[in-house]
Formats: sequence, structure tokens, C-alpha cells
Amino acid sequence: MGKDVIIACDFESAEKTFAFLDKFTEEKPFVKIGMELFYAEGPSIVREIKKRGHKIFLDLKLHDIPNTVKKSMSVLSKLDVDMTNLHAAGTVEMMKAALEGLTRDDGTRPLLIAVTQLTSTSEERMQNELLINASINDTIVKYAENTKLAGLDGVVCSPLEAGMVKEACGKEFITVTPGVRFADGDVGDQVRITTPEKAKEIGSDYIVVGRPITQADDPVEAYRRCVREFVD
Ligand code: C5P
Repeated sequence: MGKDVIIACDFESAEKTFAFLDKFTEEKPFVKIGMELFYAEGPSIVREIKKRGHKIFLDLKLHDIPNTVKKSMSVLSKLDVDMTNLHAAGTVEMMKAALEGLTRDDGTRPLLIAVTQLTSTSEERMQNELLINASINDTIVKYAENTKLAGLDGVVCSPLEAGMVKEACGKEFITVTPGVRFADGDVGDQVRITTPEKAKEIGSDYIVVGRPITQADDPVEAYRRCVREFVD
């Protein structure tokens, strides 16, 4: 499987997104469309970015009863994205239903990956508020195992967790990892971070990079640097 850099297009409008994507005249980066942009612009933003030739990770993190998720995934499968996701906390039954809904009549489907525990959830809050009486690492591994059992392709996790997920679920099980920063860059609000080089070493398959590229003085050069450090 090819390693790739996915740019998180966390913009509030199509206009800002296209102003950003227009800077890329030579390459067509893999882009992530999240809730902000999708809720602002609707499915048309996905079709337009696809038409420009980009691969798309539609990051909507579905979590509902199995039947609702199945039907929603069936609708999303028509958008022809390359990757989409849901919350593993929705249970194995929900994940299986999602996979069924996402699979098209001809058997093809986008990659489907699960969020284990959000990196913003601390172990303390998970235990005290969600009453999950386990360590956060055990929870992440268990949710990753559930994801594999349901037949999905992989998980979103911190790059620092990619190693233990691969150990538990095998090296073919995909890890998509946000929380990436250049060694000499701004950390921002991310906590458990690592560099593109280190993410490669740990075994991430895809890194999701937002602000280090979108807010850079030269976004194209920042993207190329990520590719040099992570892929080449
Ligand atoms: O700007 P930055 O590189 O921090 O962007 C990371 C992207 O990955 C954002 O779109 C953020 O919502 C997403 N993400 C994350 N941590 C997770 C899941 C998703 O940072 N656990």
C-alpha cells in the first residue's frame, strides 16, 4: 500500500478551499474534507474537488444506530471518495452495517477506517466521564481489534499509537495519523505529535497534515517537504 500525505482542508468555504488548492499547479494532493467544509458547502464540494483530480478522505466520523449508518454510508458511496470514516465506539455491529452500506453494487467501495479514541480524550476523562475502566492504550487496541473484526481497513490514531495498532492488527491494517508537525514548526493545540520522518519510522500509512501546510508562507513547499520526509 502506498504511503501518502493527506492535507486537512479545514476551510470554512469553497472559495477559500479553491484559493488554496489553486496554488498546486504541478501535483494533486490527497485532501481531507471535514465536517466544517462539508456542512458549509454540502456534497457539491466533494464532487468539485474530485473533478479537479484529487483523492478525497471524507472525514465525517459517523456514529449512530447501525441502520442509519448503513443508509448514510450508502449515500456517501455515491460521492466516489477514496476514504471515509466512523467511530469504532458505535460497536462492531454498526461498523459491519457501515461496510455493507458503503459497498457499491459492483463490489467496489472507498477505504473505511475507524476513529478509536479521539486524541483530545484524556485517559482521566475517559475513565471518569465515560466510565471506561481501562487504560487508554488498551481501549485503543481493543477498538482497533473490533474494527478489524468488522472487516474495516484501519484506524485513525495518533502516530505515537500506530506501532501498537500494527502490532495488534497486523501491518496491512491501515493507520491514518494526524498530529504531525515539522521538527522546527509550531505545535499549535496538538499534544501527542511527531514529525513526518518519525511517523514514517513508526509505520503510519497516511499522515494528515493541516496547519503546517495550510498556514505556511509557501504551502506547496511545505507539502513537498512532508512528501520528502514521509514518502520518499
Ligand atoms: O492543523 P492540524 O495538522 O492539527 O490538523 C489535523 C487535522 O486532523 C484536523 O482536521 C483535525 O480535526 C484532524 N484530527 C486530529 N486528531 C484526531 C482526529 C482528527 O487532529 N484524533
